Amino acid sequence: MEIAVVGAGYVGAVTGAGLAGLGHRVSFVDRDEGVVERLKQGAVGFFEPGLGELLAENRERIGAGTDLAAAIAASDLTFLCVGTPSRPGGWCDLRAVRGASREIGAALAGSGRGHTLVVKSTVPPGTTAGVIRPAVEGAAGRGPGEGLRVLVNPEFLREGSAVQDFFSPSRIVIGSDEPAGTEVLDRLYEGFSCPVVRCGCSTAEMIKYSSNAMLAVRISAANEIGRFCKALGIDAAEVMRAVGLDDRIGPSFLNTGLGFGGSCLPKDVRALVELGRSLGQEPALLSAALAVNDGQPAALLDLVEARIGCAGRRIGVLGLAFKPGTDDVRESRAVPVIRGLLERGATVVAYDPLAMDRFRPLFPGIEYAATPGEMLASVDAVVIATEWPEFEDLDYGGLAVFDGRRCERARKTARLYEGLCW
Ligand SMILES: NC(=O)c1ccc[n+]([C@@H]2O[C@H](COP(=O)([O-])OP(=O)(O)OC[C@H]3O[C@@H](n4cnc5c(N)ncnc54)[C@H](O)[C@@H]3O)[C@@H](O)[C@H]2O)c1
Repeated sequence: MEIAVVGAGYVGAVTGAGLAGLGHRVSFVDRDEGVVERLKQGAVGFFEPGLGELLAENRERIGAGTDLAAAIAASDLTFLCVGTPSRPGGWCDLRAVRGASREIGAALAGSGRGHTLVVKSTVPPGTTAGVIRPAVEGAAGRGPGEGLRVLVNPEFLREGSAVQDFFSPSRIVIGSDEPAGTEVLDRLYEGFSCPVVRCGCSTAEMIKYSSNAMLAVRISAANEIGRFCKALGIDAAEVMRAVGLDDRIGPSFLNTGLGFGGSCLPKDVRALVELGRSLGQEPALLSAALAVNDGQPAALLDLVEARIGCAGRRIGVLGLAFKPGTDDVRESRAVPVIRGLLERGATVVAYDPLAMDRFRPLFPGIEYAATPGEMLASVDAVVIATEWPEFEDLDYGGLAVFDGRRCERARKTARLYEGLCW
């Protein structure tokens, strides 16, 4: 198939590269010329294992440009993958989605050609029916049933294993509000062996939000219990390992520590909280999940203050990415940790194996160590903010370590050691 991918960030780039890997011809469209120029060279501006190779292997089937109309004119199917960040109040910012939908519609105006738009961006339930569809149809000058199909196909990839997740997803969700019209996606995904869920557009949108809400609630439940464990002198990691052996519960997402960050969980839970309020329903549990999450960095800072005092100290922060395996720093837990250390009068030295370049603009005034060894040699204490596996190989002897991610080596060898929930 000839496929356009509008928005070539994490989701768009992986989706497009994966589709090219399946043998389709893909035209990336992004309004950011830097993104486009990099894609023309077969590269992206972020780290994602295997993505560079996938782009390179399929280069002859991949194009990139800023001209949306040209890409749409040459394709049968468009994936909408633009960002949907949080607005200041927590609701989802739909400006990019609305704007791109209008542009896609305008590109199809007057052509009479059939076209399928697939919404991959995470949007609140009702957005495809209430915002995207009217925008596309309005700009295209076509009514429902006049050859324009809009489907929802939410994305569940995890940064750090996104390429693998593209080829082996846990499930494929196809949302459609028409009795027929999903054939193009059925064909696209016919080689995949995972469950395929078929539902209406709003249901598909809600499935994505609900998945992220469940993950966030689970992490915050573990963390709240983890804080009780810490106060009681109980090791929360030991507790959660045993809790996870119950097959009704399962082991994943029970790690206690600094909590969740990244570009999805916090923003999607905030949007769901606002959605609940707009329905006149108090989102008690989801609001609590956010509050517990916000409390974790604050609890770690309290531990540092209580044990060594921050003012005048030189404190290292190990880990700036929101999780290991990525250089994405969006809503990283290192941000409130570093802000809090600076507010309390500490000098901060930061290190991350991948994410320092992306983190620097957030905190241009702190020091960045070239190697973890260089940092450890120059600080009074260390905060571990991301569970990079290589932090298990460092020498913490003689140091005070405040661990937000449970580094066993630090736990066993630090001079003074405080775990957040253990
Ligand atoms: N990152 C993830 O792990 C992940 C996982 C699942 C779902 N999602 C969802 O997927 C969507 C995209 O997320 P992302 O992390 O890839 O975002 P991103 O910010 O990395 O990429 C979005 C891209 O869209 C481009 N863009 C914005 N408006 C445009 C327009 N009108 N025309 C062309 N390009 C435009 C931007 O320049 C940017 O390159 C979001 O809704 C997000 O919630 C993300």
